[in-house]
Amino acid sequence: MRIDSTLAFAQELDTQDPLANMRSHFAIPKQANGEDEYYFTGNSLGLQPKLARQYVIELLDDWQKHGVKGHFEGDYPWMPYHEFLARQSAALVGALAEEVVMMNSLTVNLHLMMVSFYQPKGKRTKILIEDHAFPSDHYAVESQLKHHQLDVQENMLLWSPRVRNGVQEELLNHDDLYQMIDRQGDEIALILLPGVQYYTGQVLDMKTITEKAHAKGILVGFDLAHAAGNLEMQMHDWQVDFACWCSYKYLNSGAGSVAGCFIHQKHSRNTDINRFAGWWGHDKESRFKMENNFKAIGTAEGWQLSNPPVLSLAAIRGSLDTIDLAGGMSVLRQKSLKLSQYLMDLIEAELGDSIRIITPKADAERGCQVSLMVTVEGLDGKAMFDALEENGVTTDWREPNVIRVAPVPLYNSYQDAWHFVRILKECLQ
Ligand SMILES: Cc1ncc(COP(=O)(O)O)c(C=O)c1O
Repeated sequence: MRIDSTLAFAQELDTQDPLANMRSHFAIPKQANGEDEYYFTGNSLGLQPKLARQYVIELLDDWQKHGVKGHFEGDYPWMPYHEFLARQSAALVGALAEEVVMMNSLTVNLHLMMVSFYQPKGKRTKILIEDHAFPSDHYAVESQLKHHQLDVQENMLLWSPRVRNGVQEELLNHDDLYQMIDRQGDEIALILLPGVQYYTGQVLDMKTITEKAHAKGILVGFDLAHAAGNLEMQMHDWQVDFACWCSYKYLNSGAGSVAGCFIHQKHSRNTDINRFAGWWGHDKESRFKMENNFKAIGTAEGWQLSNPPVLSLAAIRGSLDTIDLAGGMSVLRQKSLKLSQYLMDLIEAELGDSIRIITPKADAERGCQVSLMVTVEGLDGKAMFDALEENGVTTDWREPNVIRVAPVPLYNSYQDAWHFVRILKECLQ
């Protein structure tokens, strides 16, 4: 389909966009000339919702006013603060409120989940991940294997993209994974995969992967760092065993903010499951009796260790309320698909062979993020990324060769996408 490449068309799309006013709920960084940046890095660090700032300031005021009594006083007392986030966080990943808790950070939660759900036994000792997993996930898995005194080479199975004519493809092929599950399923204890691959933006078929793995007795966990706040998911119905995600990307809660953790009800109600324990996971009724008999809460909260950093939780509450203001994930996803499709069509129409989009085109296989490679002979992708930055466009560079561009439905406009392509075209010339 031929796309209308005019600015007027982008403006018209913005006029018709039911979410256009959501941008005013965010702080948009400025360029040196005072104009808004073209910000496409919500896949790395989401922008600040005004409500996040408001709630953090209110929390600071409560601390000023109540001191320690803030644990119990005020509209949002700190003691149960994480509980205020459970329903909305669960809705984001398609879970029950009791299956989700905001705690720690992403890699810490991955470790905690592996303590519980990676229990090598007999010949079932392997963990399957993807070959280009985010380094932290790779390190976490590697160190878990070492923790169990297992040989990493033998026990870490890697799902890689295919090699065609001596060149490795970028995208993962699900059939290859299903064959690994068929052939080696009896030896695999855990599959840990991303919902969205961070480099290519490819969405994995979490439902089918879980079904196939379970049929072979394998537990399945997902790293939803790039999926939470980006895709619609059904963690509960898909029977996923556990999932972890950070809150600073599409969940706009600030750098290093507290992370999310999903533990399916079939596990979370089982208080006998092996875990690393701390007092915040202990039964709420008797927590302050200060006895030393750990009794896990029979929900995802039973995996908490410490009393959480409430300043961060306040920012998350602001972000979740902002997502609710927009109408929730299905509304965001509708715009996201349309906006990223527009961006990809415009890139293809205007930049032709100079740019290769490696993100899959099909709706079901992509989220917000569009990953680009510069293919002009003699032009360096990193230099292009730097040139974009100098011209007010914030994208994200990932070694070895990709510019990641994430038009986010909450605050990016069609005009942002149009200007991105215009500026990239100028840089390429
Ligand atoms: C897919 C993925 N996994 C893990 C991490 C590490 O997250 P954290 O530093 O919050 O543990 C990131 C961070 O960007 C990520 O994108």
